[in-house]
Amino acid sequence: MTDIAAGSRTEDAAAVTGDAMIRPFRVGFPEAELTELRRRINATRWPERETVTDSWRDRPRAILMPSQETDPQEGAIMAEPTLYERLGGIFAIAAVIDNFSDRLVKNPKIVNANPELREWHTVTYHTRMPGLKWGRTLWVAMKAGGPFQYTGLEMRDAHWDLKISPEVFDEVTQELINAMDDFKVPEREKAEVLAAFGAEKGEVTASSQPGEVNWRRWR
Ligand code: HEM
Repeated sequence: MTDIAAGSRTEDAAAVTGDAMIRPFRVGFPEAELTELRRRINATRWPERETVTDSWRDRPRAILMPSQETDPQEGAIMAEPTLYERLGGIFAIAAVIDNFSDRLVKNPKIVNANPELREWHTVTYHTRMPGLKWGRTLWVAMKAGGPFQYTGLEMRDAHWDLKISPEVFDEVTQELINAMDDFKVPEREKAEVLAAFGAEKGEVTASSQPGEVNWRRWR
């Protein structure tokens, strides 16, 4: 039996004597119960890693539980957060894409670059912009390591009819930078998004290169 000293101010006694002092007394706990309690506290572990990592739903457990850093089972949890997590999840990405996409239809260097781009940015966009924003958001979320699968067209196919030149691509890249700056995306994350975007330059601009053929169209 373990005795734990405690204190109590009994209202009755205080009422009778006018004495509001704290009076010590002892509470007894069977040793076996305390041993069992210690065992259960020591055995407490978080379950396996969360399957949904959206920061809007749940802060990444790695941030919440630094105390488990040394547990080898939790090694994976302490891994570096993905770009998706560092960007702030799907809502933050969608907000940047929304801003970025609206910028493009206002930029004359993009709108007037060629007849195909002018048609899209002055007429077609009315019906296709919401879907395009969704597709771009999904693409970035997937590239950034988020829990999404982009299932739209491949970049070469999606842009083939638009005849996007490398110069237009660079102008679009600048608007992406401007959009990320509007949302104060940190330099490191900005650089990673731009690297993923830039890696598609050859595919996106393929149809503007003389002699390029999209063989997939021939299947
Ligand atoms: C890496 C760079 C780029 C990415 C990741 C990207 C992403 C996408 C995606 C996901 C789609 C939708 C594809 C689908 O229909 O399934 C799309 C279409 C489109 N992209 Fe891009 N894009 C990039 C570069 C550009 C550039 C430089 C322009 C120049 C203005 C552009 C303009 C468009 C337009 C207008 C459409 C809509 C075509 C349609 O109505 O079907 N994109 N893009």
